[in-house]
Amino acid sequence: MSAYSIRTEVKHPSAASAVDWENLTFGRTFSDHMFVVDFDGQNWVDPRVVPYGPMSFDPAMSAIHYGQSIFEGLKAYKGADGKVRVFRPEMNARRLNHSATRMCMATLPEPLFLEGLYKLLALDSDWVYPAEGYSLYIRPFMFATEAYLGIKPSDTYRFMILTSPVKAYYQGAIRVKVERHYTRAASGGTGSAKAAGNYAASLYPAKLAQEQGFRQLIWTDAASHEYLEESGTMNLFFMKNGVLHTPTTESDTILSGVTRDSILCLAKSWGVPVETRRIKVTELQEGLRDGSVTELFGAGTAATIAQIESIRIDEEDFTPPPVEERQFSNKVAKTLSGIKTGVLEDSFGWVQTIE
Ligand code: COI
Repeated sequence: MSAYSIRTEVKHPSAASAVDWENLTFGRTFSDHMFVVDFDGQNWVDPRVVPYGPMSFDPAMSAIHYGQSIFEGLKAYKGADGKVRVFRPEMNARRLNHSATRMCMATLPEPLFLEGLYKLLALDSDWVYPAEGYSLYIRPFMFATEAYLGIKPSDTYRFMILTSPVKAYYQGAIRVKVERHYTRAASGGTGSAKAAGNYAASLYPAKLAQEQGFRQLIWTDAASHEYLEESGTMNLFFMKNGVLHTPTTESDTILSGVTRDSILCLAKSWGVPVETRRIKVTELQEGLRDGSVTELFGAGTAATIAQIESIRIDEEDFTPPPVEERQFSNKVAKTLSGIKTGVLEDSFGWVQTIE
């Protein structure tokens, strides 16, 4: 039974049959429909699934001027049984509200997030390509819509969900660099929120690193630049002396990733020891130098498990063991993919099947 009455305007004909599935670029192709709901200052009103397309806005809309804008990322998969499965969507609904609270925005009832998403996926199920390595990337987002140039929290908001068929975000293993000058997030700031501005602030340092041949930065803490944080699109993991390490998200500077949480659950269920705490760059550096670090990877929704083939720390490049030898992360990648596509039993109850 649906608690919300979501009106639907169906697009005819669907554009799914015209998609060039071989040549998808991440985030450039959009499915037929989108979910939209507005906050009028009191209530979330007029939830609707409508054809994907441009919208018009007042140029004084406060999201543009003052950046009250947050987003989420999750994925749906189609297994060999033809069923569409979405991975841990309630985690994203909850995290959206964490971000909304930090950015002083309206919160969204989690059932409305989920019902809108399920209705959209049911209608656009042809956009989930049933082959290995493919998924439908789902982008929920919310932004301030009040037309007002004074600085204050907007009274009105729009929440939307777009979907976009994708392959892996990173093709193959990546080169990264530990950033010791620029800062993604400071304690007391917005780093644990999925705020659009966090991504804007990272573009310039990321561009400098890309000019040096790196795909991504590994951020360090703002105060000392001595502790590892995350990489913007991913949380960071490494295996050292058989113990899985990842920086703690108990501070407010690191995004609490859904893939990160899933990896920690799997590791615990397999009896792999785990350390989640503040981790100094030197701990990783020494382990890479003496060979006790055997695996290094990033984890995120878009990136899934992104193997790191080399890492630069203070002008020195380190190369962890070859990807084929990395037992834990290869097993995690295989297990997560199996659960998401219905090949493996979903013993954690992570998957929601769309009817
Ligand atoms: C995601 O994994 O959904 C992200 O947030 C990465 C995105 C910025 C591409």
